[in-house]
Parts: sequence; C-alpha cells; structure tokens
Amino acid sequence: MNENILHEILKEYQMKRDRAEKEALERKNRIYKEIPEIERIDEEIKKIGIEITQSIFKEPEKGKELLHLLKERLNNLKKKKAYLLRSNEYSEDYLDPKYECNICKDTGYVNGRRCKCFDQKLINIYYKQSTIADILKRENFSNFSFEYYSDKPYGDKPSPRNNMKEIVEFSLNFIKNFDTSSESLFFYGDSGLGKTFLANCIAKELLDRGKSVIYRTAPDLIEGLRRNKLNPDSTSYNEYLDLLKECDLLIIDDLGTESITAFSLQEFFNILNARLLLGKKFIISTNLPLSEIMAIYPERIYSRIFGHFKLLNFYGEDIRLKRKMII
Ligand SMILES: Nc1ncnc2c1ncn2[C@@H]1O[C@H](COP(=O)(O)OP(=O)(O)OP(=O)(O)O)[C@@H](O)[C@H]1O
Ligand SMILES: [Mg+2]
Ligand SMILES: [Zn+2]
Repeated sequence: MNENILHEILKEYQMKRDRAEKEALERKNRIYKEIPEIERIDEEIKKIGIEITQSIFKEPEKGKELLHLLKERLNNLKKKKAYLLRSNEYSEDYLDPKYECNICKDTGYVNGRRCKCFDQKLINIYYKQSTIADILKRENFSNFSFEYYSDKPYGDKPSPRNNMKEIVEFSLNFIKNFDTSSESLFFYGDSGLGKTFLANCIAKELLDRGKSVIYRTAPDLIEGLRRNKLNPDSTSYNEYLDLLKECDLLIIDDLGTESITAFSLQEFFNILNARLLLGKKFIISTNLPLSEIMAIYPERIYSRIFGHFKLLNFYGEDIRLKRKMII
C-alpha cells in the first residue's frame, strides 16, 4: 500500500478515537456532577484494579482466592453503576466511548488484520467513490416508491408493480442472508426501470451494516483495469485487483455498455471467476436481453452468470419519461 495513503488513514483513525474519547470524557464529567455516586463508584473500581494487579504479584498462593473476591466486588460495583445510569434514564453504555466502528474501535485492525471499515476506506480512496455517498442519500430504501410501477397486468405477465414487489422482496432477502447465501443478483430490463436505483438501495443497506461495497459501471471497471495495468506501479494494480476480488459486494452496472475486446472479456471473466470461487457476491445490471448476453459473452462467462445469479427481469414503463410527463 502507498505509504501516504496508509499514513492518511491511520491519522484519520487516530482523530476518530481522540474525538470519541474526548466526548466520552465530557459525558463522564457531566454525569459526575449529576450523579456524584457514580464518581465514587469509578474511584472504587480504579482502586480495585490496582489491588488486582498487586494481588497477582504479591501473593501468588493466596492470589486466586483474593482475585475471585475482588472480581466479585468489581462486578457488583459495575452493576450498581449500570443501575444508577438506567434509573436516571441513561443507557448503560452512556459513558463508554462511541466509536464509529465497533468492530475495531476505530483502530482499523482486528487481531492484526485489516478491519472491514479499513478496506472500505481504501476502496473509497482507490475508486474515488466520494460521489456515491451523495447518491446514496437520495437512492435508498426510504425513498423507494412503487408508485412509478403500473398495477395493470403487463401482457400476460403480472403487473410491473407486483413484479417489482417480488424483486424487492428478493433484494431484502439478499441483504438478510448476505452472510450465509452465495447467490448473486442479475438485474436485466429496459432503460429507466430502477435497476441502478435498487442496486444503490442495497449498497446503502450493506454499507450501513459494515460490508465493503464497490460500485462500478462496466466501462469504468474495464477502463480502470486497463489503466492500472499500463501503470508501471504494479502494486497499485494488484491492490486494485485484490479489492475488486475481496470486497463483500461488487456492483457492476450497465454491463454490455463497455467496449468488448479480448482484454475486457478476459478481465471480466477473471473477476467473475475469482469472486465466485471465493463465494463472493455481485449485483450486475444490464439493458441487454438474456439472448444478447449469450451472443456477446462467451459461454464460460454466461454459464457462470446463469448458474450463480438470481435473474431478475425489470419491466414496465421508463420512470425517467413518466416523471417528465407528470411534471
Ligand atoms: N423505486 C423507485 N422509486 C423512486 N424513484 C425511482 C425508483 N426507481 C428508479 N427511480 C428513479 O427513476 C430514474 C431511473 O432509474 P434508474 O436509473 O435506476 O434506471 P435503470 O434501470 O438503471 O436505467 P438504465 O438501464 O438506463 O441504467 C432515476 O432517476 C431513479 O432515481
Ligand atoms: Mg442504470
Ligand atoms: Zn472497523
């Protein structure tokens, strides 16, 4: 990893920890004034802490017994403190520092390995995804509407609205079973039917749950890989590839709009195959009908898509046009 990037990220973590700890200290000082009993308990807890260390060093024989007693006293004090907080309408963990990531407590590492939130930071830096944060403010499940989908049957198919309800149901299960299932999602259908929107809704949910998500359109993905390969600084290429392979969810939007070359097909196959072998998931969206997918991509690609992806067909009327007509 680039030294500067590492330095930046670690600095950011340090600032987050400092802030969390400073805020916790402020809460503590306030609570000490409001509930002085808690300050006395904290002092007692501190003393016991010292006694525990001393007892371990001083009397290793009797240590065990003493340690047991001290632990019991400690637990009682903690219970009393929790009770005092609760009865004053604070949560039990009110005095603990509030870290942004509870998994690594804003250190970036868990047991010497990079935390998910660290990976996500790297992803954001490498892919300059800062813009996606803005998109996700608009495109998320709380803004999702079924209004744009007609409730009239669509030829001999169920109404677009019922179809969409089923697709959303699938998507919610995809999120719910994210850690246990390895099935990916394949969104296909005409333009303006909400494929990108729904992919973003799912991305937001998973990001909020601490999963690492990469969003790329197919042309961007291929272009990024091409540029990275040409780059003599090959560590960055390898990291780019590692992240594409290892992130929890890779969204490839607008498949089929990239220019198809031997290079693009090879790279797409490599990512597809590598991730599927690792049991990692995708959301792929395309405007192309399945017959076109089969015509454009070689069998080793489409057979993997058909085998590992839930194929979800979006149909109905173009929401972009509908919106224009309403306005
Ligand atoms: N369920 C929804 N609720 C509210 N707005 C939506 C919904 N689905 C889509 N939209 C809006 O409709 C427009 C078209 O949606 P979107 O871009 O997701 O379509 P698409 O299927 O990805 O089209 P394309 O194939 O051209 O990429 C966008 O402006 C999006 O914000
Ligand atoms: Mg789209
Ligand atoms: Zn973390």
